[in-house]
Amino acid sequence: MATRAATSAARCGSGAAVLLMLLAVLAGTSSAQLSTGFYSYSCPGVYDAVKSVMQAAIAREQRMGASILRLFFHDCFVQGCDASLLLDDTASFQGEKMATPNNGSVRGFEVIDAIKSAVEKVCPGVVSCADILAIAARDGVVSLGGPSWDVKVGRRDSTTASFSGANNNIPPPTSGLANLTSLFAAQGLSQKDMVALSGAHTIGLARCTNFRAHVYNDTNIDGAFARTRQSGCPRTSGSGDNNLAPLDLQTPTVFENNYYKNLVCKKGLLHSDQELFNGGSTDAQVQSYVSSQSAFSADFVTGMIKMGDIMPLTGSNGEIRKNCRRIN
Ligand code: HEM
Ligand SMILES: *[C@@H]1O[C@H](CO)[C@@H](O)[C@H](O)[C@H]1NC(C)=O
Ligand SMILES: *[C@@H]1O[C@H](CO)[C@@H](O)[C@H](O)[C@H]1NC(C)=O
Ligand SMILES: *[C@@H]1O[C@H](CO)[C@@H](O)[C@H](O)[C@H]1NC(C)=O
Repeated sequence: MATRAATSAARCGSGAAVLLMLLAVLAGTSSAQLSTGFYSYSCPGVYDAVKSVMQAAIAREQRMGASILRLFFHDCFVQGCDASLLLDDTASFQGEKMATPNNGSVRGFEVIDAIKSAVEKVCPGVVSCADILAIAARDGVVSLGGPSWDVKVGRRDSTTASFSGANNNIPPPTSGLANLTSLFAAQGLSQKDMVALSGAHTIGLARCTNFRAHVYNDTNIDGAFARTRQSGCPRTSGSGDNNLAPLDLQTPTVFENNYYKNLVCKKGLLHSDQELFNGGSTDAQVQSYVSSQSAFSADFVTGMIKMGDIMPLTGSNGEIRKNCRRIN
């Protein structure tokens, strides 16, 4: 027991197929699949354009890599990866930006606008906002030190959005493990994908309103860590609701496996984070990512590719928006 506690203290720190596809597209069928080569002829410059704007944005503010990654997640979980999240509300159109998981929280839309402008200069009218988001999310992860992967593209943009879908499909931070698992399963993602994709919380920040109950009321949290987070987040809701704290306490601008190292030390910031290591069926997977950064990277990439495959609009469905904020 003593050895175990000592080891834990040491780890935790104390205190402180191209032709067929072409035919499918020509036939205008909706069964076309995404592919990594979709823009090889129509817009080979898209990758450099996205990367340079993303790199400049991250040089200005490192958090932007996290913010764009989260936009991709919140887009894909609501009627698929179709840029529905990017549509602005108007007097006659209710988008997703004001839904509970998004309101006052999602950010980075100006960066997506800047990328779209850069891409339109290189090849006007060709690349969807949905694909821009997928490529930008990857580039943000890479810029912050995470793994790279070939992004499947060929998505088209929606002409609709779903406010209720944003409220119902995106997991709230109060979720328990069973609910997290079922909300991912509803998108065709496994519990393993859910645990690996949650590693995105190795970067970025959260608001007091989303971690208050966990740091004041939950018992599966390191005491010193809870006190530290309480100090920046008043107990009573209202004041300080938007105060920020890092999801990964030490390195919120570096994409690595520290998120999982925090979880085994009971230093997850959100209730939902700590649910992944709380004596349940996902503990072993969390432990495996603590031991192996490469296992995490491989599973994260697999999860990102699967998430990017959620219900894309292809063929003649949807449109290529001219402005990511409005339908054409
Ligand atoms: C497993 C269920 C998940 C829950 C309950 C959850 C919840 C949250 C919450 C509450 C925040 C803080 C928002 C705020 O306070 O304004 C957040 C931030 C974030 N989430 Fe998640 N999330 C989940 C999964 C994911 C996934 C799958 C990804 C991406 C693959 C992701 C990426 C991020 C990033 C990068 C941030 C920081 C954004 C920034 O700093 O702007 N999350 N998440
Ligand atoms: C979005 O947040 C703002 C500011 O907190 C609030 O005034 C507004 O009522 C919220 N909108 C919705 C639809 O909840
Ligand atoms: C979790 O799922 C249960 C059963 O489906 C449901 O009643 C409950 O409201 C859910 N809780 C959250 C936080 O999603
Ligand atoms: C903690 O739990 C109590 C009792 O359920 C509740 O009244 C209080 O609002 C909670 N506090 C926070 C910060 O969530």
